Amino acid sequence: MDVKMECKAVLQKGEPKAFYGLDVPAMVRDCTAVGAGLTIQAILLRRWAKKGQYSTFPLFMVMTGAMVVVGGLSILEGLSIVWGSLVAKLWERDRLLDGLKLRGNEHVLDVGCGHGLLLVGAAKRLPRGRAVGIDLWSQVDQGSNSREAALKNARIEGVEDRVEVHNGDMRAMPFPDASFDVVVANLAIHNVEDPEGRAEAAREIRRVLKPGGRIAIIDIFFVKQMAEFFQKAGIRDVHVSSPRVVYWPPTRTITGVK
Ligand SMILES: C[S@@+](CC[C@H](N)C(=O)[O-])C[C@H]1O[C@@H](n2cnc3c(N)ncnc32)[C@H](O)[C@@H]1O
Repeated sequence: MDVKMECKAVLQKGEPKAFYGLDVPAMVRDCTAVGAGLTIQAILLRRWAKKGQYSTFPLFMVMTGAMVVVGGLSILEGLSIVWGSLVAKLWERDRLLDGLKLRGNEHVLDVGCGHGLLLVGAAKRLPRGRAVGIDLWSQVDQGSNSREAALKNARIEGVEDRVEVHNGDMRAMPFPDASFDVVVANLAIHNVEDPEGRAEAAREIRRVLKPGGRIAIIDIFFVKQMAEFFQKAGIRDVHVSSPRVVYWPPTRTITGVK
């Protein structure tokens, strides 16, 4: 096939693009439905009240006003999750990975890798290294979540040869002690519901790190508690960043060294 034909074929098919998943899809659906429902109800109530001369009753004004405010906030939260998943998480990925200043030959583990956001981003910075992901593929935490989706993104980004993806739980990881130079995670550890489970995850992350290995963990909930768990597990120089508001809720980053 000559170049002209090749270009035509690419344009017709469209270049495949990596897609890193939509977080908490049921919450996006519920926020949008509740928000739209409340707003429409408030508008209809005000119209009805105008006809019956009730619309200036203070209680009525407060009630329908509150419905519009809560409905609007609910829609905004749904939009914020979509924005975060499709745009802002990619900025956060680059900020975190650039900050690590990788040499290019490290072994990096992405805990709760989902569609491979940090995994693939790390692999692109590791021409002589390896990026490994582990996940149990919760469909609640991220829609259409699967090992295949992470591997597909690695293929699209041209780093499949440096990527491994494992099925497993961050509380009991199938890796030998001292396997990784760096462990990263994005919005994953807060999904472990009980504090003891999060403490187990911290101990496991320390176990699989090499001496001198680093952690860089972004999360939205339980961040200070996680920092304590890392300290108790034996991670040194644990630091929690100030909050960053690129979507809602704000994120913080935990860093430290084994
Ligand atoms: C909100 S998603 C984030 C995925 C990915 N890190 C990203 O930023 O796109 C949270 C991920 O954590 C995974 N997860 C939740 N609990 C886990 C556990 N105990 N062990 C491993 N992965 C877990 C979920 O399956 C999901 O893929």
